[in-house]
Amino acid sequence: MCLQFYEGHSSLAASIEILDLEEYMAHIVTSKCLGCKFTDCVEVCPVACFYELDGQLIIHPDECIDCTACVAECPVEAIYAEGDLPSEFQSNIEFNTTEAKRIKDEGKTAILKKKDPLPTAEARKVELGY
Ligand code: SF4
Ligand code: F3S
Repeated sequence: MCLQFYEGHSSLAASIEILDLEEYMAHIVTSKCLGCKFTDCVEVCPVACFYELDGQLIIHPDECIDCTACVAECPVEAIYAEGDLPSEFQSNIEFNTTEAKRIKDEGKTAILKKKDPLPTAEARKVELGY
C-alpha cells in the first residue's frame, strides 16, 4: 500500500516537474542575429512573438508556442529551441526574456513584417561562416 502511494507520489512529482519545464521552454534568438536582423523569421511566426532591438530580434518566452517554424528561415541559423541551445549561447535565454518583457512593457508591439537587414548583415553572415 505504502509503496503504491510513494510510486504514485513520485510519478505525480515527475509530471509536475515536466509541466513546469515545458511552461518555461521557448525558442531563443541568439547573438548570431546581432548585426544581421534578416527578419525572415518574423513572417512565419503564428503567434507574433518576435520583438525588435536596434541590433537584433528577440523572442518573448511567454508567447512562443515552440512550433519550430522560424528555425529554418534564418540565413545564419540564429534561432534554437531552448533545449538545443549550445553552451556558448546559454546567457541568451535570460537576454531574450528580460529584453522582450522590457520592450513589451514599454508598449512596443511585435515585429510582423520582414524589413531590410542591417547594413552589416552580409559581412556578419560571412563572419559567422554562412
Ligand atoms: Fe514563433 Fe514558432 Fe518561432 Fe516560437 S518557435 S518564435 S512560436 S515561429
Ligand atoms: Fe535574426 Fe535570423 Fe530572424 S538574423 S532577425 S533571427 S532571420
